[in-house]
Amino acid sequence: MRSGRSSIGSLSRLLSAVAACLLLGACGQRDVFNHSADATPHERELERAFALCAGCHDTRADLGHRVGPNLHGVIGRRAGSAPGYTYSDAMKNSGIVWDAQTLDAFLASPQKQVPGTRMRNATSDPQRRRAVIEYLSRH
Ligand code: HEC
Repeated sequence: MRSGRSSIGSLSRLLSAVAACLLLGACGQRDVFNHSADATPHERELERAFALCAGCHDTRADLGHRVGPNLHGVIGRRAGSAPGYTYSDAMKNSGIVWDAQTLDAFLASPQKQVPGTRMRNATSDPQRRRAVIEYLSRH
């Protein structure tokens, strides 16, 4: 049921991206994650950086969890605390509070920062991690 809701969410985001794309006649430069028609080039860059994560994480409050927990407002949140998502024990018991530093360490090496976490995707490029963290701080 949860995944049903997210696929409807993804479909409607895709449709609005397509609509925005047709309206603006700029399909070639836009991707499905860029649902804000008035995004600045910098915001677009952040969205592109987050595209790596968006396959598993939504950041809009009105969308649910995907394979990974919804990351809306994750900065300042205790790790493993989003209601309705089944975390690994490792994440729930990590004692981490997410801020720019803890996120940077986690994204660089999830398994090192939270041994046993189910998230396996490391982001080795520090610039990309910075962009992703800035994206999260805005969503
Ligand atoms: C293949 C799927 C996948 C991808 C891609 C992915 N994640 Fe995750 N992520 C997960 C899963 C699953 C968890 C839950 C881990 C657990 O419970 O141990 C998680 C957990 C997290 C958490 C902890 C959230 C909380 O509520 O405590 C953060 C932060 C996070 N991911 C950020 C990211 C970012 C940023 C990216 C992109 C660079 C990313 N993830 C890419 C699957 C993914």
